[in-house]
Amino acid sequence: MGFQNWVLLIFMITLVIAGYGNCRVIPHHNYNFVQRNGSHFVLNGKPHYINGFNAYWLMYMASDPSTSSKVTASFQQASQYGLNVARTWAFNDGGDRALQISPGSYDENVFKGLDFVISEAGKNGVRLILSLVNNWNDYGGKKKYVEWARERGQNLNNDDDFYTNPVVKQYYKNHVNTVLTRKNTITGILYKDDPTIFAWELMNEPRCQSDASGKSFEDWVGEMGAYVKSIDSKHLLEVGLEGFYGESMQQNNPAGVQAGTDFISNNQVPEIDFSTIHLYPDQWLTNSNETAQELFVDKWVEAHIEDSNNVLRKPILVTEFGKSTKSPGYKVEKRNSYFEKIYKLVYDSCSSGGSCVGGLFWQLMVPGMDGYGDGYEVIFQETPSTAHVIALQSHRMANLK
Ligand SMILES: *[C@@H]1O[C@H](CO)[C@@H](O)[C@H](O)[C@H]1NC(C)=O
Ligand SMILES: *[C@@H]1O[C@H](CO)[C@@H](O)[C@H](O)[C@H]1NC(C)=O
Repeated sequence: MGFQNWVLLIFMITLVIAGYGNCRVIPHHNYNFVQRNGSHFVLNGKPHYINGFNAYWLMYMASDPSTSSKVTASFQQASQYGLNVARTWAFNDGGDRALQISPGSYDENVFKGLDFVISEAGKNGVRLILSLVNNWNDYGGKKKYVEWARERGQNLNNDDDFYTNPVVKQYYKNHVNTVLTRKNTITGILYKDDPTIFAWELMNEPRCQSDASGKSFEDWVGEMGAYVKSIDSKHLLEVGLEGFYGESMQQNNPAGVQAGTDFISNNQVPEIDFSTIHLYPDQWLTNSNETAQELFVDKWVEAHIEDSNNVLRKPILVTEFGKSTKSPGYKVEKRNSYFEKIYKLVYDSCSSGGSCVGGLFWQLMVPGMDGYGDGYEVIFQETPSTAHVIALQSHRMANLK
């Protein structure tokens, strides 16, 4: 056994002794809300750091009895590896196992699936970032909202009318209201009162390419941010941005990306509590070699941390990063060293009092989910070396003062 393995073994034993692991059941009422103090998160009066994961599929799996055990298994594993936040979808608009079947009409069975996700997260000491709509077409998205309004007589040409059309905006607000005021059928707690929820996310990876000035999107963030806070002032709120800069700082973006969003001004909206970045050099810089992509990763993370420290003065989370088994020359060692690289950037910020206080890899899956993978999935049993890298980061983050 090498030194690192000893460290890990001792960490795992400590977790078990401390009551983490399968048998750890925390009643919801022992939970406090995570809050923000300047550029840090605070829990029980102490700074709070995040080592987390994405699992977009949780509600989908939870709403069918034949697959709901995957939800329990993933939270149990997450807890064993010291992961404390999961980011997932609180939307599925139209289509297969839809939560929102049509505007304002919900499938109670799927909602009970989301109740289960929140309840299982709470039992295992994991908090949730819940995203409220998708920019992309998967699970409905802004395209579905625009389609719904068009079917009801609105004259809409572009999916980005999502951000400006009054009927569509009202559909979105109705969804926000329905989710936030939902009473969990398992725990009996209203979502807006449940400290198991870490934060709401306005939208997954919003872009508004039809208005490169960023004005349409900025107005939408202001209006929807205020709407969320008018219902729920207890929870943290973030936009869901990938981190692209506006026109004046276009040179910082991957070549050719005009997202119609602005990392700086969008996150300066007062209702927004923290900022986010995603990181997909393999998708954003398809014409660059590996060295150039690695340099981009450092620059991207460092630039955003600097802006969070000096301009935004709010916490920042790396809410998505990952490495696909489908990328050219993939080896598990490459994924591990990529995770280590991101984890080091995050840890160095935390340990020096910086505003980057956590990272969430994309994405966790458990065995027996063949057909759901996108190449980025990490299955602990299949790649123990990656699980090891993740557990070490949890350990380091948990030991920060
Ligand atoms: C919040 O931050 C201020 C300034 O950094 C600090 O003095 C205070 O102790 C912090 N409060 C908590 C609860 O961490
Ligand atoms: C990778 O790309 C960079 C920038 O385009 C270039 O300077 C460098 O020589 C390339 N490296 C290799 C190993 O091809």
